[in-house]
Amino acid sequence: MASPALSNLLFLSLLPFLPVFAASNITPNSSLSATGGDDSWISPSGEFAFGFCQINNTSNFLLAIWYAEIPEKTIVWHAKTSSPVQTGSKVELTPNGLTLNDPSDRTIWKAQPNTAVSYGAMLDTGNFVLSGTNNSFYVWESFDYPTDTILPTQVLSLGGMLYSKLSEANYSKGRFELHFTNGGDLELVQIAWPSEIQYGYYYTSKTANPDASQSGFQLVFNQSADINIVIGNGTTVPLSWQGITPNLNNYHRATLDSDGVFRQYTCPKTSIGDQSCYCLENSGTIDCQCPHGYSFVDPNDKFGGCKTNFPQGCGVDDGTRNPNELYDMVQMVNVNFPFGDYESLGPYNQTQCEQSCLHDCSCAVAIFFRHEVLEEETAIV
Ligand SMILES: *[C@@H]1O[C@H](CO)[C@@H](O)[C@H](O)[C@H]1NC(C)=O
Ligand SMILES: *[C@@H]1O[C@H](CO)[C@@H](O)[C@H](O)[C@H]1NC(C)=O
Ligand SMILES: *[C@@H]1O[C@H](CO)[C@@H](O)[C@H](O)[C@H]1NC(C)=O
Ligand SMILES: *[C@@H]1O[C@H](CO)[C@@H](O)[C@H](O)[C@H]1NC(C)=O
Ligand SMILES: *[C@@H]1O[C@H](CO)[C@@H](O)[C@H](O)[C@H]1NC(C)=O
Ligand SMILES: *[C@@H]1O[C@H](CO)[C@@H](O)[C@H](O)[C@H]1NC(C)=O
Ligand SMILES: *[C@@H]1O[C@H](CO)[C@@H](O)[C@H](O)[C@H]1NC(C)=O
Ligand SMILES: *[C@@H]1O[C@H](CO)[C@@H](O)[C@H](O)[C@H]1NC(C)=O
Repeated sequence: MASPALSNLLFLSLLPFLPVFAASNITPNSSLSATGGDDSWISPSGEFAFGFCQINNTSNFLLAIWYAEIPEKTIVWHAKTSSPVQTGSKVELTPNGLTLNDPSDRTIWKAQPNTAVSYGAMLDTGNFVLSGTNNSFYVWESFDYPTDTILPTQVLSLGGMLYSKLSEANYSKGRFELHFTNGGDLELVQIAWPSEIQYGYYYTSKTANPDASQSGFQLVFNQSADINIVIGNGTTVPLSWQGITPNLNNYHRATLDSDGVFRQYTCPKTSIGDQSCYCLENSGTIDCQCPHGYSFVDPNDKFGGCKTNFPQGCGVDDGTRNPNELYDMVQMVNVNFPFGDYESLGPYNQTQCEQSCLHDCSCAVAIFFRHEVLEEETAIV
């Protein structure tokens, strides 16, 4: 993909987005602490903050970037730590980069480029950057490590990804991922839990092409708040389903939400609270239901998996009763459970397939050819 033609195009398409904003530099040996408030470094416009953001008044914090001027904390980036950041944690900017230490001084996250850092800056675009001694480029930027959100002027390169958070208030990795694949396709996929196996996509931009000049190579959220896939030959494929009037008085962001929908939001900068923000578009919706006889493990999390409403498994009865009296098989058409098979039998017809599952106490689902699914269920007494 690094052909000269592509590199040139990459350079050209990035040109209009070079940050030309003023920035207050953060010098090495500056630090922030997770205390009660939101200790942060603010962009020159005052619109974005980088620092510790307290989660819903708990002792949990995120090292994050958020809109500093709206009361509702909308986080647009956060450091991917394996556990929440506790009160007393500290982030420090040194010539090596950023280091986040927990209250017992163990390093839990760092951003350390190979070259020495001369300063950091929270830019008005929402990008937190580290500059090397050579001022002409950044040696690290938060825009290169997105979480669930992209902002105007942000570019996702081939292989780039976003993942959703688990729920509105839980910033752990959720069940959905957005991939700008190495092949040039934008895909939204669901992730199985807890195996983390990736299911097939539920949305695709269909912009992959073996011919690089015809294939997607950048996902660009441009300055006028349009999201486009840039094709190798320089043409753009708009993702936005309706034109968005660029408005400097609005905040724009696009987020892969915890329900798996990739939404673009616009919000007047003068708004009080989140009420006047609205969703402009979405691409790819997904809905989860439990099969008949099952219910959600957590009723508040429809992406958290299902459990049976009846005792199931080996040894739940004394084995003297005919399984046909205990269970019904319910047919679901066009459903599959990929990667879950433990045994393959056949050639069987549907009756044999059903019976083999009914008589196997480990069997929950039998998949018959053409993806017809037979599922075990309690008998109607
Ligand atoms: C940062 O701290 C180190 C160690 O305390 C010190 O050697 C260095 O001079 C400091 N740098 C600046 C820019 O203050
Ligand atoms: C946050 O928690 C503290 C201590 O638990 C409490 O005093 C304060 O009233 C809470 N604030 C809000 C806005 O809930
Ligand atoms: C700074 O980076 C630019 C672009 O990579 C390079 O052309 C230039 O020589 C570098 N300058 C120094 C002093 O390293
Ligand atoms: C914040 O905490 C309160 C009190 O614990 C809870 O009722 C509320 O649902 C939480 N908000 C979110 C977004 O989780
Ligand atoms: C978020 O969800 C994860 C996974 O279920 C759980 O381990 C963690 O405790 C939750 N975090 C919070 C702050 O509720
Ligand atoms: C952003 O993309 C749209 C097409 O989707 C285009 O009309 C507009 O000129 C672009 N804006 C900039 C600043 O490049
Ligand atoms: C780029 O390729 C697309 C798709 O084949 C085509 O419609 C478009 O005209 C091409 N643009 C240029 C500048 O060659
Ligand atoms: C399925 O195969 C069994 C065993 O060969 C046979 O007895 C039964 O009639 C077949 N059922 C159907 C619906 O074809």
